[in-house]
Amino acid sequence: MRLPLVVANWKMNKTRAEARLLAQGLALELGELETVEIVLCPPFTALSVVGEAIQGSNLELGAQNMHYEESGAFTGEIAPRFLVELGVSYVILGHSERRQLFGETDELVQRKVRAALKAGFTPIVCVGETGAERDAGQTFDQLRRQFQESIVPAVTEQDLITVAYEPVWAIGTGRTATPEQAGEVHRFLRGLAEEQYGPAWAGNLRILYGGSVTADNINQLMAVSEINGVLVGGASLKSSFSRIAQFRTG
Ligand code: PGA
Repeated sequence: MRLPLVVANWKMNKTRAEARLLAQGLALELGELETVEIVLCPPFTALSVVGEAIQGSNLELGAQNMHYEESGAFTGEIAPRFLVELGVSYVILGHSERRQLFGETDELVQRKVRAALKAGFTPIVCVGETGAERDAGQTFDQLRRQFQESIVPAVTEQDLITVAYEPVWAIGTGRTATPEQAGEVHRFLRGLAEEQYGPAWAGNLRILYGGSVTADNINQLMAVSEINGVLVGGASLKSSFSRIAQFRTG
């Protein structure tokens, strides 16, 4: 069965000591949940302590980025196999902060997606339009381009990926997409997946929503049948994350 997926993106927050504390608390509160899959994505430096803290629980470990090469002269970069060694199972790729602040292109993202699949990870590929693109009526064009260029060259019907719809205007702004807006885009993305990979693959694809998800709006969002989980930034740094992971749709 396809469980809902709740991913905590801690971004550039938490020292090792802080990360250990937060992860230990979450493992106690959420570690036995079986109705939802929960992934913690701390900074690289805290992956090992978080991995230790969640060992034996149902929580899983994710990374926020990686390089596509296996080794070499890439100062400051992290290779997929370094993450394998730490017990990582998911990797966030193409986050809008990587695209906007660090110049990541669709071409680079698809290389990373390919490398992540080769390393045995489930890539969480982020797509989303800016506020200006939405205002200009270009939302679907942008999403189609990102899907075609960040995902399609790297992914076959044999591969398992997760897609995160993250409208850039909703990230860290407190402006969440309405359930209707998110539902519309998720339907569009599933349609693209179906065109490309067929109905079975598209039906199994988990499409997450991300952008100012909080304990106050999670139930409304997860009530939308097209939303298969969430990618949570700011609100994943607080203990209220456990309320998000225990959302109620009924
Ligand atoms: P936010 O970030 O929840 O702080 O808006 C989401 C994300 O960037 O993944």
